[in-house]
Amino acid sequence: MSLMECSTVSSLFGKGHASADSEELDRRIEKLKKDLNGQVVILGHHYQRDDVIRFADYRGDSLQLSRIAASLKDIRYIVFCGVHFMAETADILTGEDQMVILPDLNAGCSMADMADIQDLEECWDLLTEEYGDSIFPVTYVNSSAEVKAFVGRRGGMTCTSSNAERVLSEAFRVKKRVLFLPDQHLGRNTGVKLGVPLEEMCVYDPADMRLEFPHGRGEPRMFLWKGHCSVHQRFEPRHVEEVRKKYPGIRVIVHPECMYETVQLADDSGSTDYIIRAVRNAPPGTKWAIGTEHNLVHRLAREHPEQWIISLNEMICPCLTMNRIDRPHLLQALENLAAGTPSGVIRVPEETAYWARTAIERMLQLS
Ligand code: 13P
Ligand code: SF4
Repeated sequence: MSLMECSTVSSLFGKGHASADSEELDRRIEKLKKDLNGQVVILGHHYQRDDVIRFADYRGDSLQLSRIAASLKDIRYIVFCGVHFMAETADILTGEDQMVILPDLNAGCSMADMADIQDLEECWDLLTEEYGDSIFPVTYVNSSAEVKAFVGRRGGMTCTSSNAERVLSEAFRVKKRVLFLPDQHLGRNTGVKLGVPLEEMCVYDPADMRLEFPHGRGEPRMFLWKGHCSVHQRFEPRHVEEVRKKYPGIRVIVHPECMYETVQLADDSGSTDYIIRAVRNAPPGTKWAIGTEHNLVHRLAREHPEQWIISLNEMICPCLTMNRIDRPHLLQALENLAAGTPSGVIRVPEETAYWARTAIERMLQLS
């Protein structure tokens, strides 16, 4: 996507309270937070915009936010500043009497949308016909509740970018092969860390229901769904080479949703929380090029003036769906709660929630 397309989409954000000026928005959100004190908790993913995340009671990566949501037993409303699959996970892990609100229901995740439940059913039928009962299904939490439930029903579990290694080790302890979806890059990067050779990984393309063997045809041990994150896919190996040439001594750290070749060249890789901790714990004066969503990279640069921080590729688009959560939408969500007419409510049907919870809890017990 070009920068022009990026800015066109950005200009569509925040229609709800677009007329309120910046200070007025802050003032009204603060007041509603106070009025609703004790009833509402706001959760914010690290990719949220600065002007939204400042209202979060808790910040975190996907795994941390799932755990926090599960622990908020006495809180009636959880306003989730993040994307749809995160709010679904929070709903799955909270009680019947609690309500999870996503301030803009259009805040999806393009990667999660790449794994459609019907395509997954077809894939599973095909693979199990060929490889029998030898496959353990693992879905990245960046997937719909239906996909999580499918995996849970078949003895599998979810993973996040911070526990993918632990989950995959367990999967390989139980079965000979793993189906990993929807992010082929996180699957490949984690498989390599565990010693699975590239030629034992093949890619399942749901568009033509075929297996591809991009690295040669070994005995398949990992079936990687052909999905990706459109933000992280744009950090390429040439960007690592360029920053190293331009800024000798720079440390390159990337999210494991980046492609294998980029992760291999980088100095380090890890979840959003891992990246934050790496920067926080580095000696002053460290130079960083960070390959992840810009809201987080730019915030780290501001919060750590003792370090020197740039994006690995300044030209990428932000995550458009994370950025859909803006102050006008947050304000509207809080106003509707205060008026007793909640909007943006996320409710996963009980049967789906049961099996999705099974898959998530298997993961939480491991990590
Ligand atoms: P984390 O699990 O690292 O928070 O990442 C979530 C995500 O959507 C990355 O694109
Ligand atoms: Fe989804 Fe990528 Fe955005 Fe993360 S950064 S929410 S994977 S589109």
